[in-house]
Amino acid sequence: MTRKHLVIFVALLCIPRVLLAQSTMNTLVVHADAAKDTISKYIYGQFAEHLGHCIYEGLWVGENSAIPNTRGIRNDMVAALKKIRVPAIRWPGGCFADEYHWKDGVGPRTDRPKMVNSNWGGVTEDNSFGTHEFMDLCEQLGCEPVICGNIGSGTVKEMAEWVQYLTSDGDNPMTALRKKNGREKPWRVKFWCVGNETWGCGGIMSAEHYANELGRYSFFLKNYGDNALYKIASGGLPEDYSWTETLMKKWQSTDGWLQGYMSGYSLHFYTVKDWNRKGSATDFAENEWFTTLSKTLEMDTLVTKHSAVMDRYDAQRRIGLIVDEWGNWFDVEPGTNPGFLYQQNTLRDAMVAAVNLNVFHKHCSRVKLASIAQMVNVLQAMVLTRGNEIALTPTYYVFKMYSVHQEAALLPVDLRSESYTSGRDSIPALSVTASRDKEGRIHVSVANLHPTKAQNLRCELKGTTGSKVTGEIITAATMNAYNDFGKPEAVNIKPLTGAQMRNGILTVSIPAKSIVTLEVN
Ligand code: AHR
Repeated sequence: MTRKHLVIFVALLCIPRVLLAQSTMNTLVVHADAAKDTISKYIYGQFAEHLGHCIYEGLWVGENSAIPNTRGIRNDMVAALKKIRVPAIRWPGGCFADEYHWKDGVGPRTDRPKMVNSNWGGVTEDNSFGTHEFMDLCEQLGCEPVICGNIGSGTVKEMAEWVQYLTSDGDNPMTALRKKNGREKPWRVKFWCVGNETWGCGGIMSAEHYANELGRYSFFLKNYGDNALYKIASGGLPEDYSWTETLMKKWQSTDGWLQGYMSGYSLHFYTVKDWNRKGSATDFAENEWFTTLSKTLEMDTLVTKHSAVMDRYDAQRRIGLIVDEWGNWFDVEPGTNPGFLYQQNTLRDAMVAAVNLNVFHKHCSRVKLASIAQMVNVLQAMVLTRGNEIALTPTYYVFKMYSVHQEAALLPVDLRSESYTSGRDSIPALSVTASRDKEGRIHVSVANLHPTKAQNLRCELKGTTGSKVTGEIITAATMNAYNDFGKPEAVNIKPLTGAQMRNGILTVSIPAKSIVTLEVN
């Protein structure tokens, strides 16, 4: 080694590690002058199934509970969920929907028949949370119900009567029954799922068989008064594009007498690396962090490919792609009922939420509603409960931080991102989205998927005069940090410092394993 080489070598050794761990490569162009589509608030929907402690204990404790409640619904839960502006809740399932008979869940609670919840732990379901209780929850939260009807073990008559019970004010038996049960005025119900996973727990049907059933059921689901149902058809398995083709071919028509048989088409996709070995929600190494995130990115491929099939029949994108089940599915927490799907929620879940929401934004001209599975105590939950305590999860904080994007105009972006490599595989280190709200503020959200390396970002904002930038960040000391009962929160939203705006160029360092939202005005 020459003296010159030695000097260079020593100089390199002297560069602080923190500088070496920073990148210089990421560039983003935000086209603030090219907004076209609106990010529907319904992309921020939730899923609440009669499963484990989602409904019972999670949302519903009953009027006589010592836990403060309003007509049986937990006050702490309503207060927490209001803060993230929940726009819609899908209920009663999931697989449960196809063994649910709604008439068992109305009328005096003491008279309601019990049933066995055969999908989820074989526990007794006493039907104390039924139609009126669910609609009360939606009213307390100010959100839309998304009701999933039973095709698998129900009948056309039963489903048609449920619509009549909920939405009709006419002189008919179901309206009379609703009034007898204490609700004079009809509710408004927009979103209606005509079956759930009909390829599996919803009836094990073929695409062709379901396409016929969809017509038969849809025909009898009437619009009463000015209530207009948005009927959501069940999709196939995540990669079953031929199911999408079959449904679109038969029901693509948005004109004439076939109009409205299928307003939306459902896609379910869970982030699971191996259904036989799903892995722990909290105890994982970096390679599992990587696999989870790279699996999550498949959502983009799925949405792109299903949209392409839908485009062939509906170029104007009038039929919505409805991602009404998504999120992480890990092993249940040790010692809990395997049928209850109770899992903790870490910074990794926050990343998965941000990446999925960024994908839904990107495709918002087609994705009109989504619901994360599930809202409370099940799978990738917003909130966990233990008796009278609640813990807000890292996923909750992403929904809170991202609520600025609801009903905002999507701003197209061009991103050049560094890679995050693990073994032989690479994914982009950054996942981004940008929007402009009704007040003209621009929000740019950036997730740095790299767990150990900060990313420098240079962002050009085209077509805006905004000169002031502020920011918020979600991160933690470790990849598997989570919020536990009775302990200070390890993951929540904090102010971000260091972002700068000069001559339309925003520069910021996005710390490793963090999600940032910048506001420019
Ligand atoms: O969310 C849990 C289950 O996953 C739902 O009941 C079902 O639709 C899906 O398979």
